[in-house]
Amino acid sequence: MHFSHVLLGLVASASAIDVYFHGSSDCSGGAAVCTGINPNVCCTGNSVSVAYRGVPTNWHINAQGYSGGGCGSPKWLADINGQTWYCMTPNSRYNYTGSRYWFVSRRRAEDTCDSNCTESVKPDTLVLADGATKYDIVGLDDAKVEELLTIASSGVGPEGMPEELLARRK
Ligand SMILES: *[C@@H]1O[C@H](CO)[C@@H](O)[C@H](O)[C@H]1NC(C)=O
Ligand SMILES: *[C@@H]1O[C@H](CO)[C@@H](O)[C@H](O)[C@H]1NC(C)=O
Repeated sequence: MHFSHVLLGLVASASAIDVYFHGSSDCSGGAAVCTGINPNVCCTGNSVSVAYRGVPTNWHINAQGYSGGGCGSPKWLADINGQTWYCMTPNSRYNYTGSRYWFVSRRRAEDTCDSNCTESVKPDTLVLADGATKYDIVGLDDAKVEELLTIASSGVGPEGMPEELLARRK
C-alpha cells in the first residue's frame, strides 16, 4: 500500500511537463501542445521552436528536439535543471518534428531511451497567443493541426480562428 502511494505520486508528478510547438522562433505566441507528457514518449509536431513548460524545479532532465520527421534526427539537446521552462530555438533551417525528455540521473533501461523508444503522441491542445484560449485538437490530422498552428501563430484571438473550432473550445 505504501508502495502504491509512491507510484501514484510519481505518475502524478510525471504528468506535469507540457511540450509546446511554436510557430515563432522564440517560443512566444500560439502553440500546439502535448499536455502532461511522460518521459521517453515522443511528442510529434512541426514547428520553428519548441518549449518545455511546467518542469518541476527539482527535476534534472535532458530534453531532445528532433527534425526529419517525429523523433528522427537529433537537433537540440537541452539540459534542464531547476528551470520551469526552456526554449529550443531554430538552430538550422529544419523545423522541429518531435521532442522527448528523460531523467538524467536514472540509468534503468526503462528510463533511458537508447534504442527502443517507439511510443509517440500528438499534440492534444491548441493554445492561442493570449495563453487562455484553448482548443481540443485530438483526432485532427497533421495537416489540419499545422494549418491551425499557422493561423494561431499570427497572433489572432478566438475571433480569428476558423468557426469549426468553436465546438472544440476548452
Ligand atoms: C515549419 O513550421 C511552421 C510552423 O511553425 C510551418 O508554418 C511551416 O510550414 C513548417 N515548414 C515546413 C517545411 O514544414
Ligand atoms: C522494443 O520494444 C518492443 C515493444 O515493447 C519489444 O517487443 C522489443 O523486444 C524491444 N526491443 C528491444 C531491443 O528491446
